[in-house]
Amino acid sequence: MERVTTQTIRKMKQDGKKITMLTAYDYSTAAMLDQVGIDILLVGDSLGMVVLGYETTLPVTMDEMLHHTRAVARATNRAMVVGDMPFMSYQVSVEQALENAGKFLKEADAHAVKLEGGVEITDTVKKLVDSGIPVMGHLGLTPQSIHQLGGYGVQGKEDETAKKMIKDAMALEEAGIFSLVLECVPTMLAKEITEKISVPTIGIGAGIYCDGQVLVTHDLLGIFEKFVPKFVKRYVELNKPIKKAVNEFIEEVREGKFPGPEHSF
Ligand code: KIV
Repeated sequence: MERVTTQTIRKMKQDGKKITMLTAYDYSTAAMLDQVGIDILLVGDSLGMVVLGYETTLPVTMDEMLHHTRAVARATNRAMVVGDMPFMSYQVSVEQALENAGKFLKEADAHAVKLEGGVEITDTVKKLVDSGIPVMGHLGLTPQSIHQLGGYGVQGKEDETAKKMIKDAMALEEAGIFSLVLECVPTMLAKEITEKISVPTIGIGAGIYCDGQVLVTHDLLGIFEKFVPKFVKRYVELNKPIKKAVNEFIEEVREGKFPGPEHSF
């Protein structure tokens, strides 16, 4: 089975083939997603919210990201594994960014890293790419800037912010990113960016015209119950069969029905 690479991803855009990306944070889930043919597994810092229970992604550390990235990388044979650089692991200096991005590839077997931001991070992106580290960009709603943005709303609705996003996308392309996440962006702005840049766009709440789509797996599977953003399609409500199964276990243990002879030695 051939591994999905940055070249595969670029060619998919050229050939008009849609790219699929999902988040993964653990071995068993990553193995299932890889087996069914997902193109990219993002070890997103969303793990802070859906796995670790933080209110935002801000507290997530490099150690937490590397720990989960290793588990995901161990499970995959085909998917490209992208490690999400957590808040304050790349903003301090280009040197800090290079050292931490290197850890994703060297210590956690990721194939690329993702960074949030536009023009202000282009020197960092260039340095990483020049050092052999593929970079995925992320524009629109960038959750690490939640306190600056003032909420999880749609970005680029006004002329001025839309123009800035287009400028940011072009600057990131020039700096060498191999793909770009667009989060919570109006459909027609995402279309314009997708048509303007040669690297693939991967949308989440950014409409149908992006070159690919990404969702948080816990949202798609109906496991994360705290809130459901408008852009999420819950393909299944796994929380229900999980609770039902666990309820049955509790009852059977309490009633002395489990374990049965077939589970005993
Ligand atoms: O952290 C994450 O899961 C992400 C995706 C929503 C793109 O950045």
